[in-house]
Amino acid sequence: MQLLSLLLLSPALVKAAHSPRQPSCDNQPNPRVPTIWLAGDSTEAPGGGGNGTEGWGQYLQYSFLPSVALVNNSAFAGRSARTFTREGRFDIIASNLKEGDWVVIEFGHNDGGTPPVNATVGDKGRADCPGVEIVQTYPTYLQNAARKFLEKKAKVVLSSMTPTNPWEFGNYSYKPSIFTYYTWLAASELGGPSKGVYFVSHGQYAAQAMKNLGKETVDANYPLDHTHTAPFLADVVAQSFVLGLKCGTGGLQDLVVNATSRLQGAVLGTCVAVNETLPI
Ligand SMILES: *[C@@H]1O[C@H](CO)[C@@H](O)[C@H](O)[C@H]1NC(C)=O
Ligand SMILES: *[C@@H]1O[C@H](CO)[C@@H](O)[C@H](O)[C@H]1NC(C)=O
Ligand SMILES: *[C@@H]1O[C@H](CO)[C@@H](O)[C@H](O)[C@H]1NC(C)=O
Ligand SMILES: *[C@@H]1O[C@H](CO)[C@@H](O)[C@H](O)[C@H]1NC(C)=O
Ligand SMILES: *[C@@H]1O[C@H](CO)[C@@H](O)[C@H](O)[C@H]1NC(C)=O
Ligand SMILES: *[C@@H]1O[C@H](CO)[C@@H](O)[C@H](O)[C@H]1NC(C)=O
Repeated sequence: MQLLSLLLLSPALVKAAHSPRQPSCDNQPNPRVPTIWLAGDSTEAPGGGGNGTEGWGQYLQYSFLPSVALVNNSAFAGRSARTFTREGRFDIIASNLKEGDWVVIEFGHNDGGTPPVNATVGDKGRADCPGVEIVQTYPTYLQNAARKFLEKKAKVVLSSMTPTNPWEFGNYSYKPSIFTYYTWLAASELGGPSKGVYFVSHGQYAAQAMKNLGKETVDANYPLDHTHTAPFLADVVAQSFVLGLKCGTGGLQDLVVNATSRLQGAVLGTCVAVNETLPI
């Protein structure tokens, strides 16, 4: 009786209760779902390194229903953490993101500069470039960007760089670059998961998949050089990122369409051991 009178008093409620079901909007961008912003270089960017290669970021969307999360691939070829910062690309993401969004940051391929020699040769990661900018270290750029995103109540995934072709020299061989360690360090110094910052050992997962695929397939999918992947391998590299997510603790994994058991297998392999100094 009380409910009935409530309904009678509130035509809007009555109307809402009887309005027809909305058609499914699964193929339409939904501004109310979280956006997963990707910041990175050509290995992740639309069009990859050109000449028919592709960035893995283009395939990440297939692991999320558009009604659950959207991917904005803002990775840009040729960029380092420093030039991405300097060109305002992190700022563009920061100004567009909303609470609950995720930002995946993955650099390293373009970040190795001249090693420090002295005040004039090499930049030591902190010397002044006269009149242009103050150069920071790689972890500093990552942390500065991450703090901007955290301030806006987004969460951050710091992801380690993809491998160069691990079959390049005949047999399989993968050694993480120093920037993998720096990425881990940046996540650790930011406070890790308790502060909304997660590390994905993407390079390790991608290398594992490339090991499983074998030399012939992997060589054929580095058509240009040892850095840029053909579409097939870019898709595998995206899936290896997703497995890395699923093997961690970040809430982003809950939005993934596939169960971990569907991802683990002959190609992607299984979860890998991590350095327990930093929970991921
Ligand atoms: C890539 O494509 C450009 C033009 O599209 C061509 O000039 C260049 O030689 C190609 N590079 C390689 C390595 O195939
Ligand atoms: C990604 O976001 C930027 C900034 O809002 C926008 O300019 C760009 O068109 C978006 N890209 C896609 C593929 O949605
Ligand atoms: C810096 O190192 C370079 C290369 O070794 C050398 O030529 C130059 O004289 C050094 N400059 C100073 C100020 O020490
Ligand atoms: C590759 O591995 C095989 C088997 O372990 C070995 O016989 C061969 O010498 C290795 N080749 C290179 C280039 O390391
Ligand atoms: C998840 O499943 C979808 C649809 O079944 C598939 O297209 C996609 O490649 C899968 N993603 C991964 C990361 O395996
Ligand atoms: C984890 O990383 C820290 C920092 O680099 C290092 O000191 C420690 O030895 C590592 N632990 C393992 C088990 O690799």
